[in-house]
Amino acid sequence: MNLSASPSWLYSRPSSRSNLSLRQTGSKAPGFFSKALRSVAISTISAVITLILFLTTPLLAQPAPQPTPVKGALPPYDLRVEYLANPLGVDVAKPRFFWKNRHSERGQSQTAFELIVSSSPSADTGDLWESGKMSGDSSIQIVYGGKPLASNHTYYWKVRIYDSEDKASPWSEVARFDTGLLSPSDWKGQWIGSDGLLRREFTLPEEPRRAQAYIAGLGYYELHLNGRRVGNHVLDPGWTNYKKRVLYATYDVTRLLRKGKNAIGVMLGNGWYKSRALMFELYVEDASGNVTEIHSDTSWQTARGPILEDSIYHGETYDARLEQPGWDRPDFAASAGWHQASGVEAPGGVLSSQMMPAIQVIDTILPLTMTNPAPGVYVFDLGQNISGWAQLRVSGPAGTDIRLRFSELLYDNGLINQENLRSARAEDHYILRGDGTTEVWEPRFTYHGFRYIEVTGFPGTPRLDSVRGRVVHTAVSPAGNFSASTQILNDIQHLILWGQKTNLHSIPTDCCQRDERMGWMGDAQVTAEEAIMNFDMAAFYTNFLRTIRDEQAADGSITDTVPHLWGQRPADPAWGTAYPLIAWYMYQNYGDRRLIEDYYDSLKKYVEFLRSKAENGLLKYSYYGDWVAIDKCPGSLVSTFYYYYDTKILADMARLINRQAEAQAYDRLAAEIKAAFNREFFDQKTRHYGPTQTANALPLFIGLATDKERGSAWSELFNDLVYEHDSHLTTGIIGTKYILDVLTSTGNSDLAYDILTRTDFPSYGYMIKNGATTLWEIWQKREGPSMNSHNHPMLGSIGAWFYRALAGINIAPDSVGYKKLVIKPQMVRDLTHASGSLSTINGEVGCAWSKGDRHVKLEAVIPVGSEALIYIPVFKLRNLQLTEGGTVVFADNQLKTSLPGIKSIEAKGGNLIIQVGSGRYSFKLTGE
Ligand code: BGC
Repeated sequence: MNLSASPSWLYSRPSSRSNLSLRQTGSKAPGFFSKALRSVAISTISAVITLILFLTTPLLAQPAPQPTPVKGALPPYDLRVEYLANPLGVDVAKPRFFWKNRHSERGQSQTAFELIVSSSPSADTGDLWESGKMSGDSSIQIVYGGKPLASNHTYYWKVRIYDSEDKASPWSEVARFDTGLLSPSDWKGQWIGSDGLLRREFTLPEEPRRAQAYIAGLGYYELHLNGRRVGNHVLDPGWTNYKKRVLYATYDVTRLLRKGKNAIGVMLGNGWYKSRALMFELYVEDASGNVTEIHSDTSWQTARGPILEDSIYHGETYDARLEQPGWDRPDFAASAGWHQASGVEAPGGVLSSQMMPAIQVIDTILPLTMTNPAPGVYVFDLGQNISGWAQLRVSGPAGTDIRLRFSELLYDNGLINQENLRSARAEDHYILRGDGTTEVWEPRFTYHGFRYIEVTGFPGTPRLDSVRGRVVHTAVSPAGNFSASTQILNDIQHLILWGQKTNLHSIPTDCCQRDERMGWMGDAQVTAEEAIMNFDMAAFYTNFLRTIRDEQAADGSITDTVPHLWGQRPADPAWGTAYPLIAWYMYQNYGDRRLIEDYYDSLKKYVEFLRSKAENGLLKYSYYGDWVAIDKCPGSLVSTFYYYYDTKILADMARLINRQAEAQAYDRLAAEIKAAFNREFFDQKTRHYGPTQTANALPLFIGLATDKERGSAWSELFNDLVYEHDSHLTTGIIGTKYILDVLTSTGNSDLAYDILTRTDFPSYGYMIKNGATTLWEIWQKREGPSMNSHNHPMLGSIGAWFYRALAGINIAPDSVGYKKLVIKPQMVRDLTHASGSLSTINGEVGCAWSKGDRHVKLEAVIPVGSEALIYIPVFKLRNLQLTEGGTVVFADNQLKTSLPGIKSIEAKGGNLIIQVGSGRYSFKLTGE
């Protein structure tokens, strides 16, 4: 007997009221039925495959390096400085160190560590810092405590830890970090302009021993040394308010240089700067310590290059006939077009190191199909909406102009539909060199959001592999994995992942196709928790928060978009809240207390700005409110909700950094807002906050609703969801972010599941059914010139719920950084298994569960130094027996065997609650 097939005992849970909502309204779309059947068949097959995999392989593959046979604590791994592995250009005076721990035993933690920072690659002794044995269970945010670090230096470090028995681990491998240019006077060069190409030759008296290049090339740059491209950054540097700050990248170029003649070449594009300017420093040291410095100045030569036009939105035009072979090598015979570069006005901002992953070409996709919908017009379908560009392979006569145009959509006649790009032309041109070879080209200084590529002007008939999709976004590493037995959840996760990553372009963007691609703060804040679970966002958000602070005005206000281009100042409070919220998420997820210390005053100014706009505890101004909602909720309610939220966070921040008086003052302010909120928005007659889902979800989520209001507000929300909307959301980006959490906290995860498995309008399934491969901007299917991006990550905020509710992985309320965990999976309805794993700042966390014939299995992975409360629902089972790794640990309502790592087990409130320390656990609950 399978529980999901015979759900009698499983389904009589308190939340089963929402069973009433299971009336599916079938889609009338022609051809849907057969498509639906096909997708049911596919999802059944893939569910079966997943199930087989689930039963036959370990549930959670440890992403950590392979354990060696070492007993006890293994060497610390995943060493980081300022969240980055072996970073170059660290420009923080006292950088922070991070590592992760492994141990052969369960229930282990670090009790002390020893860290060495050295100028020698072997790091045998710490001439910079020897921490000595420092007691402490933290392996994150460890602040450097050694001698002052010098500019432009390489440092090596290693760490070992002591476990619960005070036994030392082996030393970690040696990691490295390099400092950037720590003082403005380290920049000797000047800003120079360019016609497109810039070059400079120089001679090195000796072989280089260490060479680092620092480059700030606006709008975008590509650096070459001796004919080779340097590094793998594209669309660099990251976007900032250039008047306040310009990011520079650091490259280790030791191996690209040689004794004798060398040449530097730099291509510049317009980017967001809409002009071209270069600041460059190269420091080369030889074995005897002699330093050669090369910097940007008017001795550099410039000329027009092959790029005739480049614009982020409109595309790039490249005439390969204008290439100048050898321009980036020594002994280039510069032709007439070259002249001396001139100095240009500096952008104005300070130079800061780009201490986050760069934008890179992450993947290459071969098209699935090529069609020929009109004479000479070829349309390639990548099968996936991406951000990036196309790489072209072609040979043909010189001067042939090939046009590539990009779209997310097709018309019925097979031609591309660019209507939703608004004014973005999204059109690249490649003009052939025509030397008889296969010319391989891709643009440098533009990007598009697209699934389809239209090619015209191709000499002859292109082949399917004449174009390839290049997936381009900030190279954040994946941090999470989620999957479930119900295929639509995996399909939604696919939309979320693609929507999210393709909108990380040094800032979190709203979309990547039309004429926006801005750091809209509302979009950024609603997606941040989802992004943090799916990707390593620590360095990315560290940078973004600084960019937000750069936009803050003297009155404390910030802007709708950061860097500020569109939208207003002051920001809509639901947009501006990105500032305190993302800062707080950084603390919750990565334990980043320093950030709170550094940003507190600025965040306080922001909250004080809100207070200056509030009247009697209400913040009424709002431009967008619950943006893209189907049922509109008053903007003043949304704004006051965030006024309260921001104030509460500020109070918590003040407590964290021991500003107790301020903490109390902001607690009082929060209480005033709460009272005002209820006076204003709680309707005493109807006994709810308004006739929309968002109006009731927000106060329920954050505890604005007191006992007096909660019950009836919840009834209204429940009725609206279940009876009025048949388990469909009518929320915009704000309500959507919180509503599923409200359902789970009220014991209604089943209803959340119903909502997520809908396939008719409005739902995620509706997007999927209509061919979405990334999330739409709006719930409606629109493909005309109106606002309808088909790649907007903002409705993907629910991705966090997958991990927290379905995989059950939660940070305990009194903890940060996954130091204490609550593993509490919601084993809803016919879901037979779900699994999630997170690469957290403290190590790998995972939970995978399945339910079957009168049993529930749960595997959990808890990192060294963490502890967890694991909840296994007992449903209606009686005579419970719990095994761990095959050994009976709990039966007859009591603990039977003590196993390492398991601290206690109790049956309470419909769950077995197991308290565990670190390690990997495999539980099976059975009963009658
Ligand atoms: C953007 C949104 C943004 C909004 C402000 C739109 O044009 O694409 O995602 O948040 O403007 O309401």
